[in-house]
Amino acid sequence: MSELKNNEERGSWGSRIGFILAAAGSAVGLGNVWKFPYLTGEYGGAVFIVTYIVLLVLVGFTIMLAELVLGRHSQQGPVGAYRAIKQKWAWVGAIGILASYLILTYYSVIGGWIIKYIVSALSGNFNTTDTEALGGIFTTFIGQPFEPLVYHAIFMIMTLGIVMGGIQGGIEKASKILMPALFIILIAVVIRAVTLPGAAAGLEYMLKPDWSKLNIKTIVAALVQVFFSLSLGMGVIITYGSYLGKGENLPLSAVQIPLLDSAAALLSAFAILPAVFALGYNPSAGPGLLFITLPGVFAKMPMGSFFGVLFFVFVLFAAVSSSISLLEAAVTYFVDEHKWERRKATIVLGLVAFLIGVPSSLANGTFGGVTFINGMNFFDSMSFFAENLLLPLSAFMLSIFIGWVWGIDKAVLEATNNGKVKFGFEKIWTFSIKYIAPIAIGFILLQNVITLFK
Ligand code: PHE
Repeated sequence: MSELKNNEERGSWGSRIGFILAAAGSAVGLGNVWKFPYLTGEYGGAVFIVTYIVLLVLVGFTIMLAELVLGRHSQQGPVGAYRAIKQKWAWVGAIGILASYLILTYYSVIGGWIIKYIVSALSGNFNTTDTEALGGIFTTFIGQPFEPLVYHAIFMIMTLGIVMGGIQGGIEKASKILMPALFIILIAVVIRAVTLPGAAAGLEYMLKPDWSKLNIKTIVAALVQVFFSLSLGMGVIITYGSYLGKGENLPLSAVQIPLLDSAAALLSAFAILPAVFALGYNPSAGPGLLFITLPGVFAKMPMGSFFGVLFFVFVLFAAVSSSISLLEAAVTYFVDEHKWERRKATIVLGLVAFLIGVPSSLANGTFGGVTFINGMNFFDSMSFFAENLLLPLSAFMLSIFIGWVWGIDKAVLEATNNGKVKFGFEKIWTFSIKYIAPIAIGFILLQNVITLFK
């Protein structure tokens, strides 16, 4: 199926599967393995999962296709893509790049925790199912001033190294082996987790929605997570789309990428939440969930420390294949628009991102009492600003741009390769991009802006 035409100056994806894997590599990351399970625990289980899926279908898929269409049409990064159609809209592309760059700063802090856990698992530190002990190990570690910074630096250097060296040979090849491997090990962990004595309560929690828990907060959290997890609203998918050939089937891709991404998220939740119940831990414990309960699961598994190391290695890989796309968006921007050398752009931007990440790391300990937005510490304020304000803003503007400014007919022509590709849900998509998406996203944006002034 590699009928992609070669765009000689810019290069393009080598094959269809290469593109899908790279896009899935960006999408599948800490958002799936770390964030989705703890959000599910925090927002009431099945209710959150159902809300997430509904918003994914209604809005996530719509925006995914819109970004692919915009990127491929212009064959340019986000700023150039808007500019090519309407000069005045270039800033929307810039908002997306700023969002992904800010996310990188704290994403790398969490990435560092994963590396620490690989080291700990290798030295057999997790041979206990006592969640209190495991919780203690975790909070003590992230609360230290110095050690987490070292791991944050290591993660950032890995990201830099790959972005500097070019992505095709390394990450694309590695994705083809490691992504399937991640799925296989996830399934193994799910099987262990759901067969633990006491896991049934967790399964019920994840499968039986308790609608009384549905409220605006759940909806806001779910939509923000849809964007974060699919790498939307940040120019990343626009950029990846810009390397696609004119023969590529965009509607199909816009379905396949979210499918892979949600499969990874659901598997992760099934790997973690039943075990949380089985081990008597609190499902709404927040960001520590992955780091506290999974070691407990591995301790109960035959050859657990082996699987534990393997699992965290794959998670690290998933995280790195996402973080390179976060950095790449900003690097591309400085290379294209300001004519920086790639090497210089990567080093400068990576270093600055590391520095901005330092207070985020310290916010889990020494610096935790210092608050910024609304009583939130630095880490939470950063993530609120980037994910709850910048992301919806850029996605909202995108839907207005495609639906109303550029013209939906032109977008449909691009999506169908001038009518050559079957587009079964064309009507649904055009309706969603014009009405459902902007209304839903606008509503969420408004909610978040209101929070700001509370
Ligand atoms: N989607 C990635 C994840 O779920 C994070 C990410 C966001 C990557 C935005 C690129 C752009 O972990």
